[in-house]
Amino acid sequence: MKLAERMTNLGQETAFQVLVKARELEAQGRDVVHLEVGEPDFDTPAHIIEAACHALQSGATHYGPSAGLPELRQAVADDVSKSRGIKVNPKQVVVVPGGKPIMFFTLLALAGPGDEVIYPNPGFPIYESMIHFVGAKAVPLPLAEEKEFCSNIEELRGKITPRTKLIIINSPHNPCGSVLCREDLEAIAELAIKHDITVLADEIYGRILYEGEFVSITQFPGMQERTIILDGFSKTYAMTGWRLGYGVMTEALAEQMTKLMSNSNSCTATFTQLAGVAALKGPQEESYKMVAAFKERRDLIVNGLNSIPGIHCVMPKGAFYVFPNVKEVIKRGRFANSKALADHLLGEAGVALMSGTAFGQYGEGYLRLSYANSIPNLKKALERISEAVAKLG
Ligand SMILES: Cc1ncc(COP(=O)(O)O)c(C=O)c1O
Repeated sequence: MKLAERMTNLGQETAFQVLVKARELEAQGRDVVHLEVGEPDFDTPAHIIEAACHALQSGATHYGPSAGLPELRQAVADDVSKSRGIKVNPKQVVVVPGGKPIMFFTLLALAGPGDEVIYPNPGFPIYESMIHFVGAKAVPLPLAEEKEFCSNIEELRGKITPRTKLIIINSPHNPCGSVLCREDLEAIAELAIKHDITVLADEIYGRILYEGEFVSITQFPGMQERTIILDGFSKTYAMTGWRLGYGVMTEALAEQMTKLMSNSNSCTATFTQLAGVAALKGPQEESYKMVAAFKERRDLIVNGLNSIPGIHCVMPKGAFYVFPNVKEVIKRGRFANSKALADHLLGEAGVALMSGTAFGQYGEGYLRLSYANSIPNLKKALERISEAVAKLG
């Protein structure tokens, strides 16, 4: 079977490949600490599960509108209006199965051959993959440790050309945990307006924040009409397996995205959407508790990594990832690159984690660890990494 040309442009999220490798080792009897996949280790709060069961028993088993159930679109509009301090109406909301489809649909709707899309690198790997897939030019914006992995505005300015169609931003950031400050967001907003560029603001970790304030680029004058907010339930409510997310955009673009939904999924599962209404309108305590637990784990893992000779780790302000610099360890162990070190730590130490390059070429010299795991497991991982690094001499 000969595949269509476009399939050669499609990338992958390698965290799932590392997970498969780790599971193979476990099947052979090895004990592995999982720090590779980015999902909360908590269960979905009980009242959300109850709402889904109730919805199923009440007959929410049929197709729904492609843009989402009116009650969820309303709940999202209210929630986004309140959390971002902007005014959103339900017609601006498109409900989709997870946050990811908003990336895909945004790129399908707005970018094609001849267009350029600027995206963070290191960054969520699906941005680059999808930019290539739609035939646009991927223009990486390197994020540097010296800038605590925030965008370098001068560098961004230099990347903009008359063909720049879209800038993707992600704050709090995967894989670095960095958070864009108000001044940087304002500068990005100014550039977007000046050059008539649309912004995809991936705010999926917006509530997983430990320091400072969450600022959405939509808060700056003139930005709401040129921004697509990507958000969802996966991280905030520990609902990764439910597949529930949404985009907030102009009404005109929402109509186009609804067409993409109707062509691809028909609609998002209806009982899942009713669970989403319960998540947004119900008690938020479980979510706050998760964030408090993540903060404790962040402090543990950052301090633990920084105490290992040869590793340096910036303290992230949000999300649940750390992105330590391991250049010295790579050199000492004569590894070819970060990926070889990540493979070594899985094979020799039983710690599954990601090479920084799984998030783009500017991730070389770094690893990504998800600390959405228990304190005892994190301590075990730190001990194992420390021992493995000490053995390198
Ligand atoms: C930055 C970022 N955006 C979007 C997503 C996708 O979320 P979902 O699982 O809801 O599709 C992820 C998931 O890891 C992510 O890290």
